[in-house]
Amino acid sequence: MLKKDDKKNEKKGEKEIDKLVKKLTLDEKIAMIHGASLFRSGAVERLGIPAIETSDGPMGVRAEFMDDRWIPAGNQDDMVSYLPSNSALASSWNTELAYRTGHILGAEARGRGKDVILAPGINIKRDPLCGRNFEYMSEDPALTKALVVPFIQGVQENDVAACVKHFAANLQETDRLMVDEEIDERTLYELYLPAFKAAVQEAGVYSVMGAYNKINGTHCCESKKMLDEILRQEWGFDGAVISDWGGVHRTKEAAECSMDLEMSIFPDFDDYKLANPLKELVEKGEVSVDAVDAKVRNLLRMMYRLKMIGPKKDSRKAGAYNVPEHRETILHAAEESMILLKNENHVLPLNAKKIKKLAVIGANAATLHSNGGGSAEIKALYEISPLAGLKMYLGGNVRVTYAQGYYVPQNKADDGENWQAVSVDKDSDAGKAVRDEVHENEMHRRGEEARLAKLEQEKEVIHEKNEKLFAEALEAAKDADAVIFVGGLNHEYDVEGCDRPDMKLPYEQDLLIEQLLKARKDTILTFVGGSPVEMPWREQAQTILWSYYAGMETGNAFAKILFGEVNPSGKLAETFPAKYDDCVTAKNGQFGKWGKITLEEGLYCGYRYYDRQRIKPAFCFGYGLSYTSFEYSGLTLKAEKGKDVKLTFSVKNVGKCAGAETVQIYIAPIAAQADRPDKELKAFAKVELGAGRSKKVSLTLKQEDFMYFDAQLHKFIADAGDYEILVGASCEDIRLRGIATLN
Ligand code: BGC
Repeated sequence: MLKKDDKKNEKKGEKEIDKLVKKLTLDEKIAMIHGASLFRSGAVERLGIPAIETSDGPMGVRAEFMDDRWIPAGNQDDMVSYLPSNSALASSWNTELAYRTGHILGAEARGRGKDVILAPGINIKRDPLCGRNFEYMSEDPALTKALVVPFIQGVQENDVAACVKHFAANLQETDRLMVDEEIDERTLYELYLPAFKAAVQEAGVYSVMGAYNKINGTHCCESKKMLDEILRQEWGFDGAVISDWGGVHRTKEAAECSMDLEMSIFPDFDDYKLANPLKELVEKGEVSVDAVDAKVRNLLRMMYRLKMIGPKKDSRKAGAYNVPEHRETILHAAEESMILLKNENHVLPLNAKKIKKLAVIGANAATLHSNGGGSAEIKALYEISPLAGLKMYLGGNVRVTYAQGYYVPQNKADDGENWQAVSVDKDSDAGKAVRDEVHENEMHRRGEEARLAKLEQEKEVIHEKNEKLFAEALEAAKDADAVIFVGGLNHEYDVEGCDRPDMKLPYEQDLLIEQLLKARKDTILTFVGGSPVEMPWREQAQTILWSYYAGMETGNAFAKILFGEVNPSGKLAETFPAKYDDCVTAKNGQFGKWGKITLEEGLYCGYRYYDRQRIKPAFCFGYGLSYTSFEYSGLTLKAEKGKDVKLTFSVKNVGKCAGAETVQIYIAPIAAQADRPDKELKAFAKVELGAGRSKKVSLTLKQEDFMYFDAQLHKFIADAGDYEILVGASCEDIRLRGIATLN
């Protein structure tokens, strides 16, 4: 909600924008609405309108590139703080941390002189194999929504625009530029849009990135339905829509919908669809000047809000990057993001005093991840690996032996150019030859196929090399006081532009884990990765700890958790299925296909599907252990203001150490009139409790929490009747139940 002063200011802004639009020539307007370099729009110096400086991305501000090539500029001052990925942040279930993390990203972006930070990515995770899942938050819209709002507010407090992406339903990397997704209206509105809507209406996001994919036959960046009807008319968005890089394919269509700034991966800026081709159409009278003006206005409005233009220019915040406070919060976020999946016989926490020799096994113990993943890559000021973190924690008197354990082929493809350059035909001058759609897409297909083929070919080499590495690992494990395995994925797998070939741990890790568990059943299995993996040995394992890419302080957080200085409190923001074949998308075959996918499962993805089909996942949505345990009691429900339901209950820490519990509220309609998922998350709270302490938790469910989208009426409605209110420690572990009646 805008305050009175803000409203006044916005009015002033509109007047200023009107004046500027009147003064701008067609050429100047056109310059403003497409990229003038890979990450910058055109400026109009004559009128004091600066270029809009954009930068990726979600885990920190990306290094500088040359203006027209995907080659790092080689600067010394573009190292930054490496933030936890959204998948890590979401596992903290901590909205305050989401705000603080967003605030850091905004401050660092501003500090680096950026106007728009191309984050956060909030697409709903529909399939565990999507290459970009690590950049996204959750399979659940309510959790995503609750985190994205404070995150964006945090970013934008720095006079930097968040650019929430990718609008919408950017669900797979396979065929990402062309894939057409058939989605029914209800599924779109209930699963794939709510977090974007909240970004607009609750967080007041200044910009939105149009996705690459098509929805029901139309590219998102050219879609009147997505950009005009839904985003602007239904939600009232008045900021700027920026295309994903190369997401605009047709001039007239993009000109006539609310696509305000066309960006691309090609350096032929004058030939962008919203450049010369648009100018020609305007001159021929086929596109109105009003259509161009609308885009210019949206961009100017964002610039005014960012104090890039207007009377408040001098008071624009300066930002700050690489400051110590940022590292503190990043460490805290990493600590809250790690998820303890199993801990039998109290193997964890380890007692540092009792350890003289520690064996650390696995390539991910020593792998740095910040410089990979696609556009989310960054040049981190530093990154503490798990191995470094353990050594720092224990000091030099404890003998830490490290064995790589399994072989990871080095990626030789990096010839100094960025991966994004791979989608540009290097042999052609300035990439002109690749501008026709078929060719562009073909390049992409070749890239993807080559990548998957490479992963397949490497298997043989891996197998050969592993014999020796496995033997070394087993030797190291033999007489150690504790054995910590650190495996998982890396950005060869969690990567933009390609989906994972399967849900298995790569590099024969499963074989090594089985052997380690045979030799030492107390082996502590830990993982760093961006998306779920199958864990066929999980019954035999006593201890499993999962970390998403958790930022520059990963290793420190990791050590503090293993040695009990921090009590783990992360919970899964997505289901870890027992095997890929259990996923609805594996069953319906509607993921990772070229050309077209149909979301046949409708609302039934993630826990909604496992619930309905009674399929037991390895670890369910909302699940995560602590070194202590919690008891829930005394649920009362009270109707409030005629519409809301107020819930009150107590949570008690009944263990021996302090800890934090995320309590989750699900709604389960009883005798629903429409088809409704068995239960849906509607609220949650993270409660910190000292040993033996208890706290009263109060949460309010609003009427909209009981609603579903009626496609015929084209609106959200709630049926009168009874609803079961479930209070749980995860979606499977329901501790308290009550009934609310809606009149
Ligand atoms: C990605 C976006 C990113 C953009 C700019 C695209 O390929 O999909 O997420 O912001 O590149 O690097």
